[in-house]
Amino acid sequence: MEIFTATDYAGMSRQAARLVSAQLLLKPDCVLGLATGSTPLGLYSRLIEEYKNGDLDFTEVRTVNLDEYKGLAPGNPQSYGYYMRENLFRHINIKPENTFIPNGLATDAAGECARYDALLDSLGIDLQILGLGENGHIGFNEPGEVFMPSTHLVGLTKSTLAANARYFASLDDVPVYAYTMGIGSILRAKRILLIASGPKKAAALRAALYGPVTPALPASALQLHGYVTVIADAEAMA
Ligand code: F6R
Repeated sequence: MEIFTATDYAGMSRQAARLVSAQLLLKPDCVLGLATGSTPLGLYSRLIEEYKNGDLDFTEVRTVNLDEYKGLAPGNPQSYGYYMRENLFRHINIKPENTFIPNGLATDAAGECARYDALLDSLGIDLQILGLGENGHIGFNEPGEVFMPSTHLVGLTKSTLAANARYFASLDDVPVYAYTMGIGSILRAKRILLIASGPKKAAALRAALYGPVTPALPASALQLHGYVTVIADAEAMA
């Protein structure tokens, strides 16, 4: 595992963008695994900037997102589909048909999980970008008793609902179920980039990197992967 400390959020975003850019330059038709949330926003802004400067080309890139709320249409401003369009896709030259995200409106949850797993198997992720939950979750793999191998539907924990409530009118509006890639799907990515920022992530980051590997702290599974890069700002690394 390679671990880099950046001075602040902007530095973390800059370093992370360098790594993603290098991936795109080395393999223009790469498959990127993407995360939502506040942490990757700075990274996405920098990728947009580099695209606008003519330094990056997304024509051949395909993307797969980690997760999506169950019950939200892609046009819903709180959905992760909407987040991706607004914060990255509509600003770059990626083909919409090359971007994949679980279908929050699927009526057959098991079928949707199987469809997404088949897609992940056929694409193969070159670089998976991950944020980190305060409780150590990655994607929406919440602390539990087992590492889930594949895409599944999860009930979100109180702490995650509370953390996500900032994007909704009230806590009651936060969807309580989400589709997420499993820990197994994440570990099948060839390379993983974990980014973390701020003091609220410090305890989870320490446990993930230096604690026991346990489903009680899902990010600790990253210790089992051979090619993980962690870029965190000084507050998260504290
Ligand atoms: C979102 C996701 C989540 C977030 C995590 C951190 O797609 O997979 O695991 O990465 O909840 O969220 P932020 O970055 O908002 O602190």
